[in-house]
Amino acid sequence: MAASTEQRPAGDGLPGAGFRLDGRVAVVTGASSGLGAAVARALAGAGARVAVVARREDRLATLAKEIDGLAVGADLLVPEQVDAVVPRVAAELGGPEILVNAAGNVFSEDRAEDEPADAVASTLALNLVAPFRLSQQVFGHMRAAGRGAITNVSSISGRVGIPGIPQASYAASKAGLSGLTAELAVQWARHRIRVNTVAPGFFRSEITESLYATERGQTWLRRNTPLPDDGIAQDMVGAVLWLVSDAGRYVTGQTIVVDGGWTAR
Ligand SMILES: NC(=O)c1ccc[n+]([C@@H]2O[C@H](COP(=O)([O-])OP(=O)(O)OC[C@H]3O[C@@H](n4cnc5c(N)ncnc54)[C@H](OP(=O)(O)O)[C@@H]3O)[C@@H](O)[C@H]2O)c1
Repeated sequence: MAASTEQRPAGDGLPGAGFRLDGRVAVVTGASSGLGAAVARALAGAGARVAVVARREDRLATLAKEIDGLAVGADLLVPEQVDAVVPRVAAELGGPEILVNAAGNVFSEDRAEDEPADAVASTLALNLVAPFRLSQQVFGHMRAAGRGAITNVSSISGRVGIPGIPQASYAASKAGLSGLTAELAVQWARHRIRVNTVAPGFFRSEITESLYATERGQTWLRRNTPLPDDGIAQDMVGAVLWLVSDAGRYVTGQTIVVDGGWTAR
């Protein structure tokens, strides 16, 4: 059978129009701060209508106003609240063609042998199960549209151990996202639904605040990061925009590392 050329974007494939998202509805979790907020702004800047999801509704309301999007307050540790997100977005903005799962947290700083069971369960629920549930929820809308892009935000801890910062369940949850990504990509490719993951190294945000706050932490980061600059949220936005737009239309099932060279050593 000849390869289908249906739905191929017009143009020469060079950057530009391929990165536009006009007319598409996007859901971005973890958008009340850090990487998620930066991604929401970038997708809106590329023309998408963006639903921003997190618990802190005051922050979401401010961002939604700024980007003419929709604020959706939800605690993604609560299954009923996870399941309510996509139906609400579909009712108010239309069926999502883009999902970025950026919400995540660390629930224990204990060494693996001492991590409490409830911290392990919460880590997996927020960082892995919620992205899976949300992917299931957007599937029908993406299949109906004949296209879709899901991008998960994992971490280099899903790929390498980080000496000095114990985070076993967090690492397991983030590695799980890469496995989920490959499997969904293969199952859903026939519908032109692409599933990828961006794995950040260390970036300044609320989650890493304490690390950047001390001279010791900063020295450790500098020693372990080949590129000389601190990572900031905007440094991983380009990878997400590439993956969710037509510019990345032949990329699926991948985990793209954005880490200043940390894992290249
Ligand atoms: N910064 C880094 O160095 C780094 C490195 C590797 C991976 N990551 C990953 O990048 C993603 C974004 O992190 P960040 O650095 O931007 O940290 P952040 O500023 O702390 O953002 C975390 C986001 O997740 C949301 N969130 C947390 N718990 C939630 C819950 N129960 N329900 C709904 N939303 C929840 C937070 O919103 P609310 O508190 O308002 O709910 C916030 O918007 C995370 O998945 C993180 O694991 C970050």
